Amino acid sequence: MWHFRLWDVQDVTVFLSITLYMCYLAGAISIHSPQRSLTRSVQDDVFFSVDVTCSGVPTIQWTFMSGAVSRAIGTWQPGVYTNITVDYGNRVQSFDNGSMGLSDLRLQDAGFYVVTVTESAGSSKDTGFVLKVNEVLYEDLQYLSISALALACVAGLLMLVMWLLDKAYRKIVAWRRRKQMPETDATELQRL
Ligand SMILES: *[C@@H]1O[C@H](CO)[C@@H](O)[C@H](O)[C@H]1NC(C)=O
Ligand SMILES: *[C@@H]1O[C@H](CO)[C@@H](O)[C@H](O)[C@H]1NC(C)=O
Repeated sequence: MWHFRLWDVQDVTVFLSITLYMCYLAGAISIHSPQRSLTRSVQDDVFFSVDVTCSGVPTIQWTFMSGAVSRAIGTWQPGVYTNITVDYGNRVQSFDNGSMGLSDLRLQDAGFYVVTVTESAGSSKDTGFVLKVNEVLYEDLQYLSISALALACVAGLLMLVMWLLDKAYRKIVAWRRRKQMPETDATELQRL
């Protein structure tokens, strides 16, 4: 019985040590991010700001997720290498603290962005960001209002021209009548 209890204590100690070690490993990586939810417009730039701290050089990996789509954006180790996926090419800017800048946003860029930080010891931690991308309606509206204004001007001009033509026509008709009146009178008189 005593023997068993001693073993129990030892087991508990080992278990606690492992738990504490895992907590230490998980706690060794910290990802600080001031803002997790961002909204931008098409063609804008976005900056996913994080500050990664861990022991050794971290491996930073960014992944894009939307619905069933999961796409690698890039992986880098500050001061060692930077590997940005071809699809993202020069739209992505990598920072030593783990932050990522994405420029010239498109509607398809809306979704979930996950940064995974892996320590040299192998443990990792991740944090997600939500990005909303709005369509730019302003330029369309401006274009529409300018077109409407132009159309209204053309319509107004046409109406003015028609009114002037109508007036001129009436004047010509009246003038012709007045000019013809004495002649007809004269011929009619001659006939009589
Ligand atoms: C990470 O670094 C960038 C560029 O140096 C800086 O603008 C940004 O604020 C940093 N992020 C955090 C959360 O400290
Ligand atoms: C860069 O990433 C791609 C895919 O994400 C991989 O195939 C390639 O081997 C990587 N290149 C380097 C130098 O790590």
